[in-house]
Amino acid sequence: TSVLSVASEVFPLVKTGGLADVTGALPLALEPLGVSVRTLMPAYPSVMAELGDAEPVAALPDLFGGPARILSVHHAGLDLLLLDAPHLFDRPGGPYVGPNGYDHPDNWARFAALGKAAAEIGLGLIAGYRPDIVHAHDWQAALAPVYLDAAGGERPRSIITIHNLAFQGAFPQTIFPELGLPETFWGIDGVEYYGSVGFLKGGLRAADRITTVSPNYAGEILQPAGGMGLDGLLRGRANRLVGIVNGIDTSVWDPATDPHIAASFTRDDLFRRSLNKRALEAEFSLEEDESPLLAVVSRLTWQKGLDILADCVDDVVAAGCRLVVVGSGDRLLEGAFLSGAARHSGRVGVRIGYDELLSHRVQAGADALLVPSRFEPCGLTQLYALRYGCLPVVSRVGGLADTVIDANFAALAASAATGIVFAPVTREALLDGLTRLTRLYADAPTWRDIQRSAMSSDVSWTASARRYADLYSSLSEESTR
Ligand code: ADP
Ligand code: GLC
Repeated sequence: TSVLSVASEVFPLVKTGGLADVTGALPLALEPLGVSVRTLMPAYPSVMAELGDAEPVAALPDLFGGPARILSVHHAGLDLLLLDAPHLFDRPGGPYVGPNGYDHPDNWARFAALGKAAAEIGLGLIAGYRPDIVHAHDWQAALAPVYLDAAGGERPRSIITIHNLAFQGAFPQTIFPELGLPETFWGIDGVEYYGSVGFLKGGLRAADRITTVSPNYAGEILQPAGGMGLDGLLRGRANRLVGIVNGIDTSVWDPATDPHIAASFTRDDLFRRSLNKRALEAEFSLEEDESPLLAVVSRLTWQKGLDILADCVDDVVAAGCRLVVVGSGDRLLEGAFLSGAARHSGRVGVRIGYDELLSHRVQAGADALLVPSRFEPCGLTQLYALRYGCLPVVSRVGGLADTVIDANFAALAASAATGIVFAPVTREALLDGLTRLTRLYADAPTWRDIQRSAMSSDVSWTASARRYADLYSSLSEESTR
């Protein structure tokens, strides 16, 4: 099967979150299964700086107000197609926000262009290339299935993957005429969503299949509480929806070979792990001792429930634990953690910012990773944590519930436990989970057993890539409507 994957971020080129990890790793895992994936992404300035000499393979003379080219290049094991449209992408700032911290005002055009280019490629824009499937990720790529649907006739099958239903790409009705879609797409069966244009809504409507990134989240989004306004639409298409849990790139994230950590280790020489703990203490100027070292590596947002942790910093310290936080996001949350660090110097360390390599050192050195999310489609940091023997403490939502086995009595007896799962997402339940954690930590042999089970969890892409491959091949056999 031949697949065109379409995404706004792809590791290692551009990453703001887990989406990039998935779009960067899944193609590599699919290759041995006979699925060839080409990945279309915008040619942001940083991408052009690295890969600007890529070969032009097609042109779109007028793509939302300017000329565009498609460039083809191999990089990091990926077969990339870069959407080079300087009027849309050649500018300072991040993939979504400008240097002022606000969304680029023309994000609708930037990502409509991505969807439009994907559809054109799907329909044969690049000589000699016709994918069987166009696979769009999140709202930024969600118009790809819509444009394919609008084209009618013989076309590739389409899939949309929901990585996060909270981000829907909603824009004012006034942009609708600019999208170049037939009038009939303004309405309940098109991109209209309560009087605005909904990119994700349109994609969910038009795609032949919908996937999301864990089975549990696939169930949650069918309920009003988790559906973020789209549960009705999703219930109507439930027979087209499947949850496939994310994996991780186990060669990038491997404590046995990780060049970014102080000391490599495996589950058979866990004593070496303490060298990483010492290094992390030094890096964050923490007191050196044997107390549990808890960690957060996260966007600091409401989704992640970290306001609840920020409220517990004094309790965490009073319970004898230390805490390191690596993250950025809401200014209020950043401030709350910074003031926690100021109150408890030597016990709490905070790094505001985004630092990929530091995230490896944290996973390798901390004893536990806290992920108290209010909702979490899959979550990748708990998977990295499992792999590094950094026991995840997670709320029982979304993919967190699918990937961490709570250290309850039965799981401990069966040597199956891999972390702590708590519910609901409240201060009391989080503190309760941390109390259970410190008790387990005090029992060194049990702790080591849990670490070994965690490190033995299959967090690779192997099983899930097979599920995507099966989905692609069954779908590509369906004929065009
Ligand atoms: P989300 O995509 O919702 O942010 P995930 O857990 O799926 O959540 O993925 C987050 C990814 O971003 C992980 O790879 C995580 O290590 C990384 N990450 C988040 N914040 C930071 C940070 N401040 N520094 C380095 N890596 C980070
Ligand atoms: C989103 C979700 C996260 C998921 C990631 C990759 O950013 O918030 O839970 O792991 O996408 O699928």
